[in-house]
Amino acid sequence: MNQFLEGLKARRSVRKFQDKPVSAETLQTLMEAVQWSPSWANTQCWEVIVVKDPALRERLQATMGKGNPATKAIVSAPLLLVLCAKKDSSGFYNGQVTTKYGDWMLYDLGIATQSLCLTAHSLGLGSVVVGLFDHDAAAKVVGLPAGYELVSMLPMGYPDQSPKAPPRKEISQFVHYDRF
Ligand SMILES: Cc1cc2nc3c(=O)[nH]c(=O)nc-3n(C[C@H](O)[C@H](O)[C@H](O)COP(=O)(O)O)c2cc1C
Repeated sequence: MNQFLEGLKARRSVRKFQDKPVSAETLQTLMEAVQWSPSWANTQCWEVIVVKDPALRERLQATMGKGNPATKAIVSAPLLLVLCAKKDSSGFYNGQVTTKYGDWMLYDLGIATQSLCLTAHSLGLGSVVVGLFDHDAAAKVVGLPAGYELVSMLPMGYPDQSPKAPPRKEISQFVHYDRF
């Protein structure tokens, strides 16, 4: 199998981590993965906050509803990234929206996040994208200024579990030829 696809398929959401730190060098490599991600007209609207302070981690955790399987990881992961975006830039030209979808920041952040998760996986790190929490409450915790949105949280670390792959749809269920 193609080596890249093999890595992509082997990546799993990891929510339990070993008590082993992620080095500054590895963090730098992860940030390069964000830096070289594609974005709308190269707007690069992403902002990354590395949250180390345990008290802030606990306050971020408190923004999650009960039952989110990633709740513990927000505090326990050796590395916690909070992914934010500058509003009104991606998808805009001269301050005007260019498509029916308005702000493309979520799209760009999604790509950057996949770059992060795949690069992390290639370095032996596990990660889980966390999207289900009170975003405005979390933005207050990290002091996000006006004009930005907090999009997701990404706990990362060396895996302490090997989750089974959730099933995928068959390709024939989503590929269409010529017309839908
Ligand atoms: C945008 C997005 C938001 C997600 N939010 C959460 C979350 O809040 N909590 C959680 O435990 N997993 C979350 N996940 C992880 C998904 O549940 C997971 O990717 C999916 O079940 C497929 O499993 P896999 O990543 O192991 O292939 C999220 C994933 C994405 C892409």
